[in-house]
Amino acid sequence: SLNNYLFKYKGYVFAKGETTGEYIDSLQHFEIRDSDVFLVTYPKSGTIWTQNIINLICEDTTDKSKFPNNLEKMPWLEYREGRPDYSLRASPRLFATHLTPTLMPPGLRDKRGKLSIKAVSYAKSKMNNYFNKYYFVWYFFLNRFCLVEASMLSVSFKQQIVYVLRNPKDNAVSYYHFSLVWAKLEKPKSFEDFLQQYLAGNVGGSSWFDHVQEWYTKRDQYSILFLSYEDMVMDLRTAVEKICKFLEKNLDDAAIAHIVEKATFKNMKKDPRANYEFIPGDLLLKPQFMRKGTVGDWKNTFTVAQNEMFDQIFKERMKNIPLHFIWD
Ligand code: PPS
Repeated sequence: SLNNYLFKYKGYVFAKGETTGEYIDSLQHFEIRDSDVFLVTYPKSGTIWTQNIINLICEDTTDKSKFPNNLEKMPWLEYREGRPDYSLRASPRLFATHLTPTLMPPGLRDKRGKLSIKAVSYAKSKMNNYFNKYYFVWYFFLNRFCLVEASMLSVSFKQQIVYVLRNPKDNAVSYYHFSLVWAKLEKPKSFEDFLQQYLAGNVGGSSWFDHVQEWYTKRDQYSILFLSYEDMVMDLRTAVEKICKFLEKNLDDAAIAHIVEKATFKNMKKDPRANYEFIPGDLLLKPQFMRKGTVGDWKNTFTVAQNEMFDQIFKERMKNIPLHFIWD
């Protein structure tokens, strides 16, 4: 069952005091811009890391001096506290969220329609000049294959979502340690105690399995880039390049190298804009957002029995999701 620090709304578990059901409902009318960028994660999957990377990539177009830290520059969509009026923000606006597709602003899904209309009208105007006589044939052909055409004509996808996922064993261990230092979470008695709550989805963000599954199976409705925490650990430069390409930012080698350098665990831990030590002490008992930053830490925590049980559940719950995970 849910502990006193949490509440459930529309099937999703939130931290009490951070938001309300009413505010979550209001997101159904949240006005989306084509230029918006969303970072979506299940908690403890590499959010503040990727937030830092995206902020650095977009630095040229947003005024750094206005925002004292990464959280102000890329705020959490679902947290109501101290929320500024986002409609007054300059584009591109950046948001982070742990929400599931159902709770997200519906405007984020419009991309396909817009894309095909744009592609067809662009192709029509081009083709019309040359194939005037056979215009209708072309029109039907283009309507049918508009998405293929769109990629050939390099019509850009809009309203980008970067989704970062992390192997759930390391994710659970990271979340366990976080529960010990976040003041407004019930302190688990043991890792076993936490693991049971995690597997039951009785933690903020609900179930890891539901989150990953829902975003993955609905991916075709969005313009979305899937990245894994483990790939980022193994090859940060490639991850930064992928995000740049996806966001259509043509940065030169030196700019990319600068971002990679600033986003290493060691450097981020020292960076007051990025390390979340700006969170007040009554919320964060110990500055530990940047804890260890490795792959395979679960091996230091899981018992053999917990691991076997977890593997069984993972196999069952992920059987239809062809995602590949790196465990160590
Ligand atoms: S939160 O609360 O949902 O925003 O937490 P989140 O940022 O998603 O996850 C925290 C974990 O990400 C690790 N982290 C990093 N790893 C490698 N490199 C960099 N630069 C980095 N920045 C953050 C952080 O250490 C947490 O993982 P653990 O395993 O607990 O160390």
